[in-house]
Amino acid sequence: MYHSEIIGHGMYVPPGVVTNHDLSKIMETSHEWIVQRSGIEERRWVSPEVTTTDLALKASEEAIANAGIDKSEIDCILFATVSPDHDFPGSACFLQPKLGLKEIPAIDVRQQCSGFIYAMSMADAFIKTGQYKTILIVGAEVHSKGLDKTTKGRDVAVLFGDGAGAIIMRRKEVKDCLKDSFIWSTHLFTDGSSAKDLWLEAPGMALGPERLTHEMIETGKHYPYMNGKKVFANAVRRMCECTILALEANKLKLEDIDLFLFHQANMRINQMVAQELKIPEDKVYNTIQKYGNTTAATIPIGMAEAVKAQKLKKGSLVANAVFGSGFTWASAVYRW
Ligand code: UT7
Repeated sequence: MYHSEIIGHGMYVPPGVVTNHDLSKIMETSHEWIVQRSGIEERRWVSPEVTTTDLALKASEEAIANAGIDKSEIDCILFATVSPDHDFPGSACFLQPKLGLKEIPAIDVRQQCSGFIYAMSMADAFIKTGQYKTILIVGAEVHSKGLDKTTKGRDVAVLFGDGAGAIIMRRKEVKDCLKDSFIWSTHLFTDGSSAKDLWLEAPGMALGPERLTHEMIETGKHYPYMNGKKVFANAVRRMCECTILALEANKLKLEDIDLFLFHQANMRINQMVAQELKIPEDKVYNTIQKYGNTTAATIPIGMAEAVKAQKLKKGSLVANAVFGSGFTWASAVYRW
């Protein structure tokens, strides 16, 4: 059977830094509140003309160059995002021609903060069956254009940032299961009974004769809503659970893992997961301080930054765990 290997990575964040102090000028919040509750110090926001697929393009180009492949070798694109350029077609359809690629399948993955690991799992399955050989997976978000930046929306607005990350996954014939770089496992979960605890209600076909009305805009239904405490508690619980499951499935102990790359929703969530699982601090790599929550992009951004920081090296055994709207959660284990 074929396996799949991550052969290239890339990331891009827009240059516009927005500090907590900047936010405190437009809404009632403070640097102290945001840092204490979330660990976030700053995030990036795009300028008005920039789109999600613009960020995705830059991250993808870096991943292609890092992989040392010609882009024509890519035979499938998987694009994880919660902030698509348009409702339809999917953002992968807009990215494909920007990359100068033709006719290969370009698929959007709509699994919010868990989207990137879902996409990795789908790519792994495509490669294992022999359907595709070299897959571009990108996670990209422009949140800044969709947040309520007044005091009313501050619980959500201070958390999210814009950014993109990408990897190239390629077919690999594994000779040494323990030493070769390849994806060992992915585990995916959803509990749709909590769908409305973190959601964007409008525009929506479920809303009556019109998917978007002036009234919906006036009442803020076009901004994300989050039941923060419920999301927080479930994130800690589910990320712990799916990490343990991934370790058990691979007959691994916690100490076998060189690096834990968790979703970046809140530094306190990751600290509680590490505390609960007794993971030493230096084995967890966080980027939330600089970028906030970039949803589907947090994992590939974490990969690229961890490589730069020399925390992630060729041969490292990595565990990912993510949690987000849906509720969805997932884990992955691979040798880098
Ligand atoms: O990617 C996955 C999705 N997201 C997450 O996983 C996030 C999960 N949730 C969280 O991270 C936390 O629940 C938050 C950071 C969103 C909020 O932290 P909290 O400790 O749960 O605070 P809270 O919602 O209980 O609010 C405490 C107080 C409230 O004031 P009162 O009612 O005590 O007077 C809020 O109105 O803090 C107030 N508040 C703020 N104050 C200053 C809420 N947001 C802000 C803000 N600045 N930005």
